[in-house]
Amino acid sequence: MSLFRTKNLDHMIAQSRAAGGLKKVLGPLDLVLMGIGAIVGTGIFVLTGTGALTAGPALTLSFVIAALACGFAALCYAEFASTIPVAGSIYTYSYATLGELVAWMIGWDLLLEYGLATSAVSVGWSGYFQSLIGGFGIHLPVALTAARGAVPGVDTWINLPALLIMLVLTAMLSWGVRESARLNCIMVCIKIAVILLFIVVGARHVEPANWQPFMPFGMAGTMSAAALVFFAFIGFDAVTSAAEEVKRPERNLPIGIIGSLAVCTVLYVVVSAIMTGIVQFRSFAGVDHPVSLALQMAREHWVAGFVDLGAILGMSTVILVMSYGQTRVIFAMSRDGLLPERLSRVHPTFGTPFFATWVVGIVFGLVAAVVPLNILTELINIGTLAAFCLVSVAVIVLRRRRPELHRAFRCPWVPVVPALSVLFCVALMTFLSRSTWIAFGIWLAIGLAVYFGYSRRNAVLHRPENTARAA
Ligand code: ALA
Repeated sequence: MSLFRTKNLDHMIAQSRAAGGLKKVLGPLDLVLMGIGAIVGTGIFVLTGTGALTAGPALTLSFVIAALACGFAALCYAEFASTIPVAGSIYTYSYATLGELVAWMIGWDLLLEYGLATSAVSVGWSGYFQSLIGGFGIHLPVALTAARGAVPGVDTWINLPALLIMLVLTAMLSWGVRESARLNCIMVCIKIAVILLFIVVGARHVEPANWQPFMPFGMAGTMSAAALVFFAFIGFDAVTSAAEEVKRPERNLPIGIIGSLAVCTVLYVVVSAIMTGIVQFRSFAGVDHPVSLALQMAREHWVAGFVDLGAILGMSTVILVMSYGQTRVIFAMSRDGLLPERLSRVHPTFGTPFFATWVVGIVFGLVAAVVPLNILTELINIGTLAAFCLVSVAVIVLRRRRPELHRAFRCPWVPVVPALSVLFCVALMTFLSRSTWIAFGIWLAIGLAVYFGYSRRNAVLHRPENTARAA
């Protein structure tokens, strides 16, 4: 049964409180801003193009469906975050509830999610960067503008800007330049400002005839697009990672999570409605900067330039937050002995997991350079949706096993809300392509091999002095 050994929950909670001395300073507005900082990025600035090609103007509905799936999962996240406020996100929660094997698989799944998300956002960043410098008449050699096969009929080789931005941000992270709350606040304001600018200027150019037919590819197209643009909501879990520093977490955590999701949903729905209203949705074929393209086609070149700049800054913060999340999960898994110890070593001068940060930066920078965006996003989505399902199940399991635990925030209507979360997530997963399922299966199979070949034997819980602590 050692596969299902769990970390002792009371010990973990006590540890987090003891180590906790963190000041409880974050209020609801801080959390909403933090959420928006982590959420708004490639999803809205880039994937809306592919989404529009998949769903037509019904892309607006796709955003609502994806938001519902996230909303239910977010309530489950909030309960965990307020009960076990420790680093490592759902990896840690599941180690305490569902056992080591499931925790390992979730951690392995998170490596895929966060890692590929940084690659995907770098690719999105690259599209806007090239659009911006293109405005000044600067063009990179075509071979260096995108991964091979990313643009049909064009002989591209690697996405050089995507690789370079990953390396620059990795250097910053490894030197300890973390996103400060202040920087985050400025970036979020810029992001929201350019989106509002797009809405105000774009609304004047909407031709309602472009919204007809509303659902050209039926409900199947709408659901496929929902499974794709689900990516646009990933990142709200960043809010839960701040659980220990939140004032009145039982009230403010759910406000932060649900509030940032709600704001993003409204922005996404309005932006996608305006985009598909300015131009025929078919115009987005092969375009990697659809939001500014819509403005360029409306001859608003100056505004398009501002949108490019805002998107570039905004996407940089998403890459930072995701890379940071990635290194924290690796750190937590390595500290538990499931990954090599070297990955949780902290640099003596910079005080960061230097080695792990560079491994992640180089590997996923190269991925960004050679893998097209659509393949990346589908893989990220399937990984994240699977993780959401497990979190939802874990909420029910923990309620049954430990009903007496203090939960600062309780997910409403358990087990109905977790069940709805699973239902929505599984429904979206079924709309992802077969090749995505196969690739995901291969990733999980490699994960199992690593677990049985290395992690299980090296787990800290496996060591004799700790077996008594495992529940
Ligand atoms: N939600 C994030 C984005 O859209 C990952 O870039």
